[in-house]
Amino acid sequence: MKVIVTKDYHEMSKVASEIVSQVVLDNPHAVLGLATGSSPIGLYNNLIEMYEQGTLSFANVSTVNLDEYVGLNKDHPQSYAYFMRNILFDHIDIDLNNTHIPCGSAENLDEQCKQYSELLKNLRQDIQVLGIGSNGHIGFNEPNTPFDSQTHVVQLAESTIKDNSRLFNSIDEVPTQAITMGIANIMNARKIIVVANGANKADAVQKMVEGQVSESCPASVLQRHSDVVLVCDELAAAKLQLQK
Ligand code: F6R
Repeated sequence: MKVIVTKDYHEMSKVASEIVSQVVLDNPHAVLGLATGSSPIGLYNNLIEMYEQGTLSFANVSTVNLDEYVGLNKDHPQSYAYFMRNILFDHIDIDLNNTHIPCGSAENLDEQCKQYSELLKNLRQDIQVLGIGSNGHIGFNEPNTPFDSQTHVVQLAESTIKDNSRLFNSIDEVPTQAITMGIANIMNARKIIVVANGANKADAVQKMVEGQVSESCPASVLQRHSDVVLVCDELAAAKLQLQK
């Protein structure tokens, strides 16, 4: 895994956006695997800026998102569908018909999972953007998710519900289930970029990069992928040996 340590979030977002934009410049029909959460917001802001400056177009790009809460409709302000429109899609020239996010309606969940995995076979990510949970999750693949998993429904870990409650009025409003790409779907991406910032990610980052590859830390599976770049700030990198 290639590791790039940056001074702060601003620089992390700049480096990450250069990597993602290069994929689109190389292939205007690229498939981008996208994440929600706070880590990639700066990266998305930079992509918007490149679009506004006329140096990047998403007109022929397709996207596949990692995950969605179960039980929130796409117009709920905390749904990931809403987040993606608000943070990125509404500000660039992407065709919304080419953007894909697991549906998250509480009905026919098994069927929806199968359909999303099928879709991913046809839309293999040229690059997958990932954040990392403080417990080492990627997507909503919580600790002890099998590495060969496909799109599935998950019961969110207590720590994830707690981490994400900051975005809801109260912890009781945080959905307890989500639908997520499986680890095998993530590993199928041609290239993966992980963005991580802040001291609360330092343990997870250390385990991902230098720990044993184990299902107890889902992100550790990335050590087995041949093209992964981690871009993280100094706080998130603080526990890495390479920092010592
Ligand atoms: C988001 C996702 C999650 C987040 C992770 C980090 O689509 O799948 O794995 O990437 O929880 O979240 P932030 O960036 O908010 O710290």
